[in-house]
Amino acid sequence: MQNNVVKNEFDLKAGHYETNRLAQWYKAHANEILNQVHDFDSGDILDIGCATGYQLRLLCERFPDAKLVGLDISDKMTQQASEYCEQLSRDIHFITDDWENLTDESRTMLENYSFRLIICANTVHYFIDPIRAIRQMYEMLDRDGMLLILEREKTSSPLTLLWGVLHRHLIKDQVEFYSADTIMAYLSQAGFKNVNVLSSIKKYFWKGKLFTSIALIKGNKIND
Ligand SMILES: C[S@@+](CC[C@H](N)C(=O)[O-])C[C@H]1O[C@@H](n2cnc3c(N)ncnc32)[C@H](O)[C@@H]1O
Repeated sequence: MQNNVVKNEFDLKAGHYETNRLAQWYKAHANEILNQVHDFDSGDILDIGCATGYQLRLLCERFPDAKLVGLDISDKMTQQASEYCEQLSRDIHFITDDWENLTDESRTMLENYSFRLIICANTVHYFIDPIRAIRQMYEMLDRDGMLLILEREKTSSPLTLLWGVLHRHLIKDQVEFYSADTIMAYLSQAGFKNVNVLSSIKKYFWKGKLFTSIALIKGNKIND
């Protein structure tokens, strides 16, 4: 599977992403991230794999002074995100691009911001090269910036384990689920410090979904 296949998949999901069966599950993740953002005081925020911008709309209420940017590979997602934001009194800037193959134009746009917080929720498992993608997050962050990655934790959810096996052997695409330890190792390799699991949620049945096991992982960019 190439990233254009991922784009097509999410183009089809954009119109009902915030109302479908899994919407309340994803929204609960966004609220969990919001609850855990304690260390952020000022600066700009980038959400990679922002989908329809629900997370950014939550952050915009909490952080009225931050400039907010969402990036997603699916133009239908960013279009829908912009429509949801029409009623807001603030601008959120949405960029349609592939984080793994940023155009020069997107890169230049992004470099105009000072990102002190980058969020990437439920998206790392789509990356072809997650280590490179995380390294790019490190580079895009400002000094003293923080990265938050939320992902399914494959070692403690039989459902995620099963999906991983199906993706690898039957669907044969690039989707790969990780353990929290593996993602933390990727952050450390990219240069992040203070890498740890800020919170984890393990539930047999939660927000309409069986066997939830998610981890919210944090890393700080600390320039020596
Ligand atoms: C499962 S959704 C998660 C959306 C949102 N972060 C959330 O937690 O509800 C994954 C999102 O990542 C986007 N995505 C996947 N691969 C991407 C890439 N290489 N670059 C940018 N966006 C990507 C998809 O289009 C989709 O909107």
